[in-house]
Amino acid sequence: MRLIIKDNYDECSVWAANYVAYRINSFRPTAKKPFVLGLCTGSTPLGMYAELIKMHQKGKLSFANVVTFNMDEYIGLGPNDEQSYHYFMYHNFFNHIDIPKGNVHLLNGLTKDYVKECSHYEDMIQSYGKIHLFIGGVGSDGHIAFNEPGSSLTSRTRVKTLTSETIDANSRFFNNDRNKVPTSALTVGIGTITDADEVMILATGDKKARAIHHAVEGSINHMWPISILQMHQHSVIVCDEQATNELKSDTVRYFKDIESRLRPGLK
Ligand code: GLP
Repeated sequence: MRLIIKDNYDECSVWAANYVAYRINSFRPTAKKPFVLGLCTGSTPLGMYAELIKMHQKGKLSFANVVTFNMDEYIGLGPNDEQSYHYFMYHNFFNHIDIPKGNVHLLNGLTKDYVKECSHYEDMIQSYGKIHLFIGGVGSDGHIAFNEPGSSLTSRTRVKTLTSETIDANSRFFNNDRNKVPTSALTVGIGTITDADEVMILATGDKKARAIHHAVEGSINHMWPISILQMHQHSVIVCDEQATNELKSDTVRYFKDIESRLRPGLK
């Protein structure tokens, strides 16, 4: 696991965007060999999306041969609903880059047949071979996508009931009214995420400190879904100083030291 510790949110956003751009550009994607990117929503990745848009506008990055799969979607919200993850992604990212619409994949929260929708999503990922880089955030309770505590660590795309903690945390996007937050969602599974060649998780702010402690120093446990990153060959957590507040000072020193001594091309 790489743990990248930056001073603040903006630095995390810039680091993550540079990393995504580096991965896409060094892959040299073509229409026949696209780069497959897993994407997330939430407030944490907004700065990264803004940086990626800037790079695209400066001509440094194209998404013409990038295929995306989003992590999750609320059940009952359609693409035009401002709180849906469809709306979030088009509004904050896809509308500002050159990605062909056919390359974008999101789960359909209005489907009548959840099982079919989820297995079709898995099949679509399979049809591209694999996801090269899956980017996610983390909930304060350690959930990734909508894989709440207690989720199977080998789970696949399916329906999940949201915990009260997640409903409370996400109510800020619903006028702080928890009754307006959908109570279930379609989500890729933890197994779907960890099948990716590489998984990058963004975590900023004090509220994420407990989850980062469990991710980095805790044991692998389904009550802290993010801890599965310890089993992944290429996982990267990008966090700010505040999110390290519950790590031992030795742990922080160790990861900072390793990163400072990486060969320049790997930084
Ligand atoms: C939601 C999403 C997660 C996201 C989490 C944290 O629950 N389903 O994918 O990681 O929120 O969001 P934020 O970045 O706003 O803290």
